[in-house]
Amino acid sequence: MEIKYQLKSASQRRSTPYQPTENIGFGRIRTDHMFVMDYADGQWQNPRVTSFGPLPISPGAMALHYGQSIFEGAKAFLHPNDEIYTFRLDKNIERLNTSASILCMPHVPAEMQKQAIEALIDVERLWFPRQEGACFYIRPFMFATEDNLSVRSANAYTYCVVISPSGAYYPDGNNSAIRLLVSKKYHRAVSGGTGAAKASGNYAASLRAATAAKEFGAAQVLYLDANNQQIEEAGAMNHFHVRKDGTLIIPTFTDTILKSITSQSVLALGEHLGCEIKQETIMIDDFIADVRSGEIVEAGGFGTAAVVSAVGEYIFEDNTIIQVADGQVGPVTKKLYQLYSDIQNGRCDDPYNWLT
Ligand code: COI
Repeated sequence: MEIKYQLKSASQRRSTPYQPTENIGFGRIRTDHMFVMDYADGQWQNPRVTSFGPLPISPGAMALHYGQSIFEGAKAFLHPNDEIYTFRLDKNIERLNTSASILCMPHVPAEMQKQAIEALIDVERLWFPRQEGACFYIRPFMFATEDNLSVRSANAYTYCVVISPSGAYYPDGNNSAIRLLVSKKYHRAVSGGTGAAKASGNYAASLRAATAAKEFGAAQVLYLDANNQQIEEAGAMNHFHVRKDGTLIIPTFTDTILKSITSQSVLALGEHLGCEIKQETIMIDDFIADVRSGEIVEAGGFGTAAVVSAVGEYIFEDNTIIQVADGQVGPVTKKLYQLYSDIQNGRCDDPYNWLT
């Protein structure tokens, strides 16, 4: 694929390394450029790195009406050798195409996605925030642009990549545990639906539950399956818990769970963490009993943005609360976060060649 470079003039774009003085937070800052490519007549066309700015979109664009819109979230890190490394980008690339299949959208060939993202990073390398815990949060996305009000899959799309230089997700270094609302009222996904896709609509659909969670003083929702029997997800993250014997358990991936790349990575890291890591179907009633009896000693969520977020308490819609052990971030969670961020930031061996 031959990418066109329509770069800003030297005086309009960053010329010195980005050295923020305060934590820049997550997802707020943009760089000078973006990657854009259009799909029409059955093929991807006009790949370009161009100035970051508004995209032209017809008011009749099908993404705006019927929600054919998907995205990814990947990260890259600046290593001590001053080079930027993407982390498991192949997994994000693969998952974008899984989402595309679920929403009847065209695939973006893996090599094209990789080239697009690497070209943009290369142009924007001075934007990498020189700050402890910082990363490039990479946001590839695709949406239907065809101007038509029929309900069917569109025949025109835009694929775009933007980069958000981001600071540490939790400025305190993942040292506090959150509360989750166990919701029997709101559900994220049903079997046969779009739960396994990183579809924009899934996130829109989660906002009402997240608003309800706030009313219970909870940061997010623990989603159950539609029959209120099994644990599915922790907000926008996969759920996990740790048993007294050290086993870490992640719910089995089904078509109602988004396969977190962090979960997939953690599953591979057991021998490096010195504990068994497995997937199981987790019944909510068993989970509650095991938290109460002290059999479950840690719990939390895995996702790209925060990596790992400890859960210290679960609140129910009748206001009952259960606390996991002492309600603080436990040792397995801490060790996991440390190992994961050491690998990502090039502070230790990369045992599975996840960095490029
Ligand atoms: C993640 O952490 O992987 C997420 O999906 C959160 C993102 C949508 C901000």
